[in-house]
Amino acid sequence: MCGIVGYVGDNKSIEVLLGGLRRLEYRGYDSAGVAVIDSEGHIGTRKRAGKLQVLVDDLEDRPLANGATGIGHTRWATHGGPTDRNAHPHLSADGKLALIHNGIIENFAELKQELVESGATFTSETDTEVAALLVGREYESTQDLTEALRRVVARLHGAFTLLVMHEDQPGVVVGARRNSPLVIGLGDGENFLGSDVAAFVEFTRRAVAIGQDQIVTIRPDSVEVIDFGGAPVETEEFDVAWDASASEKGGWSSFMAKEISEEPEAVGNTILGRVHDGLVKLAELDPIGDAALADLDRIVIIACGTAAYAGMLGKYAIEAWARVPVDVELSHEFRYRDPILTERTLVISISQSGETMDTLVAVQHATAAGARVLSVCNTQGATIPRESQAVVYTHAGPEVAVASTKAFVAQVTALYLIGLHLAGVRGTLTDDQIRENVVELQAIPDKIAEVLSVSQAEIGQLAHWMTDTQSVLFLGRNVGYPVALEGALKLKELAYIHAEGFAAGELKHGPIALIEPGQAVIVVVPSPRDPNSLHPKVISNIQEIRARGARVIAIAEKGDAAVLPFADEVIPIPLAGSLFEPLLAVVPLHIFGMELASAKGLDVDQPRNLAKSVTVE
Ligand code: F6R
Repeated sequence: MCGIVGYVGDNKSIEVLLGGLRRLEYRGYDSAGVAVIDSEGHIGTRKRAGKLQVLVDDLEDRPLANGATGIGHTRWATHGGPTDRNAHPHLSADGKLALIHNGIIENFAELKQELVESGATFTSETDTEVAALLVGREYESTQDLTEALRRVVARLHGAFTLLVMHEDQPGVVVGARRNSPLVIGLGDGENFLGSDVAAFVEFTRRAVAIGQDQIVTIRPDSVEVIDFGGAPVETEEFDVAWDASASEKGGWSSFMAKEISEEPEAVGNTILGRVHDGLVKLAELDPIGDAALADLDRIVIIACGTAAYAGMLGKYAIEAWARVPVDVELSHEFRYRDPILTERTLVISISQSGETMDTLVAVQHATAAGARVLSVCNTQGATIPRESQAVVYTHAGPEVAVASTKAFVAQVTALYLIGLHLAGVRGTLTDDQIRENVVELQAIPDKIAEVLSVSQAEIGQLAHWMTDTQSVLFLGRNVGYPVALEGALKLKELAYIHAEGFAAGELKHGPIALIEPGQAVIVVVPSPRDPNSLHPKVISNIQEIRARGARVIAIAEKGDAAVLPFADEVIPIPLAGSLFEPLLAVVPLHIFGMELASAKGLDVDQPRNLAKSVTVE
């Protein structure tokens, strides 16, 4: 939550900051602000409630003098409402120091009390202003911005990335991080800081991730990193795997439309390089080692939201293939209930951003308890992979729309690859069985492309007819159940329509009471071809709700004649093995959520109240 960008270099800070904020806006869009040290050596700030465009328009009407040093912020409000006054940057008492913050300072109330008692006045309701005033005071006594920040972070509890600059130190931006992200971009005669590489990828693809409890000082020609104790830290450079165009809309009506269209590549690229001689080999699992993987007695998948639904699909596949029990838990529930973990437990965290605080603290907890921790992540240089024993990256490319789509199919793909790798190591599938599943997985990108080309217009039409719908229920069984949950979540968060996903077998145990004439129900129907298929049971469930007046929209395998008499609409998906059907069935639901939100005139990329990286607990 909150996007942060810092720059030192040429006299173009405002362009760099606004460009970076545009690409970081997915992290929060309650307000935006910039501070720049101009050529006269004075700090100018501008900050406005609302989306970044409000700030951009304001800067056009009332330009701010440009400069070679600047910081910028886009906010997801925690302490204090989304107002101009609460927008960042915040200034020190003398107005000479500007500070921005991502995270929550948990002990801000006591620090504020101390400041008030010593005569400080506050202009905002934020926790951040406490840090601005404290660093300002420390600077007065030390005249050293890095040391001033170092002294203050030692007093802060919670999660924070802070960036500061001072009028007396043009050409210097100092950043510190604990439990919130910060990445350095290395330029030529200029350097950058950002919440993630999107902040500066337009200018450089050379990056360095900053570790936990570290402080970085950037100048145009140098970068120095120390820890909170003041000792120098060695850093490692990496190349950003995608270029700026990957995080641009490129002619699409929204990032979400673009990202759904990229679902085939998200799956294909995640498989790429991981199949050898038809078998899955994940070199990324080497830090854990085959012996430990063969000896596992339990896997716990931890994640939040859409990533947790991907985890539920991972459970079905890993249990089926690797024959090891898998539990799926929401990270925040897992962390605070003293879970039983041993060195024979593998904890798999899933996170697109790699910064979700709930998942990060769960990973830290699992590591401290002695479990092995493997992360599935889409973002290089993020905190969760850095704190994990091993990481399998999804290669979905940058996901900008706040609601996750292409990352979901990439996460499921990564989990399936992990399942097949484990099956090989544990000897629970023969090589031929693994190869058959690999062939199925490799066929998925083309099949998703088929869903996109066949169904898009039809789903758009359906969504258009349903703009006045107040409630939609989603049903699925077995692997269709997480798909139903994902479909419901997308509809809630994008179209603000009440939606619930249910396991279809649970219907008679309560939810069927919700069915009244006209109630829209979307049903994920399994293939009828599999002899063990739950197809007949799902058809019975459809009949039960139809008998009570439900309007049924079925996502069903093409050619499934049994479903036709009982459904008002059928959205066909190509044939696939039963574990692979979810990767196809979810695509119409992603399109449906997006189209219904668009038909209601809503911003599908930035739904209300949400932020893409949830970096607070
Ligand atoms: C829903 C959505 C969220 C995220 C969740 C976890 O569309 O995007 O539910 O899936 O906040 O985020 P990551 O994967 O970044 O940990």
